Amino acid sequence: MELNGCKSFYEQRLKGRVAIITGGAKGIGAATAKLFAHNGAHVIIADILDDVGLTLAKQIGARYVHCDVACESDVEAAVDVALTWHGQLDIMLNNAGVEGPSGSIAAMSMKEMKKLVAVNVCGVVHGIKHAARAMMGTKGGCIICTSSSAAVMGGLASHAYSLSKAALLGLVRSAACELGVHGIRVNCISPHGVPSDMLVNAYRKFLGKPDLEADDIQRMVAESGSLLKGRSAAMEDVARASLFLASDDAGFITGHNLVVDGGFTSAHTTLRFIYQ
Ligand SMILES: NC(=O)c1ccc[n+]([C@@H]2O[C@H](COP(=O)([O-])OP(=O)(O)OC[C@H]3O[C@@H](n4cnc5c(N)ncnc54)[C@H](O)[C@@H]3O)[C@@H](O)[C@H]2O)c1
Repeated sequence: MELNGCKSFYEQRLKGRVAIITGGAKGIGAATAKLFAHNGAHVIIADILDDVGLTLAKQIGARYVHCDVACESDVEAAVDVALTWHGQLDIMLNNAGVEGPSGSIAAMSMKEMKKLVAVNVCGVVHGIKHAARAMMGTKGGCIICTSSSAAVMGGLASHAYSLSKAALLGLVRSAACELGVHGIRVNCISPHGVPSDMLVNAYRKFLGKPDLEADDIQRMVAESGSLLKGRSAAMEDVARASLFLASDDAGFITGHNLVVDGGFTSAHTTLRFIYQ
């Protein structure tokens, strides 16, 4: 981007940094992979969607590695790819996540819950653990974990998903306490209402309408998902927030949860009518 004839420094905010993005093949992770690469980062997309991930990696000059975050050795191998590729790991974005089984807590399937926790919680623990090993003893690094508005407010997602995302807030604060002495910042990012495949599928499931059009769901989300008139969440909103956290601009921010929700979780929306 040209600004008054000068190349914007915003395009090179991660110049030369090595970043792993789990769940980077599509959705929010893919938007972030594109933005990080555009800002000069060497990006490694770590996902289970091999074809989609490889295609995107080729498009943006990134690397792709098959990595099921629930499997610790896969995550360790992804970190090894970073170390052999460029000798360092600067940014670990633990973004991979899955939605939960809907239904009453009284009928909750413990098997389904454990499956979700294996990805959404253990997957992030694996990411923090192996990133920390690679970053300790270096000049530091940045770890970002994708939580959710469902960690801040009840009733936005399934019980299993909500508990998994809330667990990340505690994990991030705890890891930030330890890793700060190594110059490693650890933060959460909590999106809300981003029209990804995950959100569309979750809406269909919760509303019990498997045939609902994605466009209709996006409209519903846009109407209820933000305090900002005419503004709903886009993947790029979350990508830009991650870029900020990953960059030196956020050098004094650690143990934080950056909520990207257009103010949704800050207000009791049923009372908004008093301002209209
Ligand atoms: N979309 C939203 O509104 C929203 C809101 C809050 C939080 N989030 C979180 O944002 C993150 C990205 O979600 P999204 O909305 O882009 O969904 P998405 O379904 O579009 O993308 C999820 C990505 O994670 C990958 N993935 C799933 N399981 C994996 C595993 N075991 N190992 C490696 N990769 C795996 C998928 O293949 C996919 O590429 C998730 O952690 C999600 O919980 C999303």
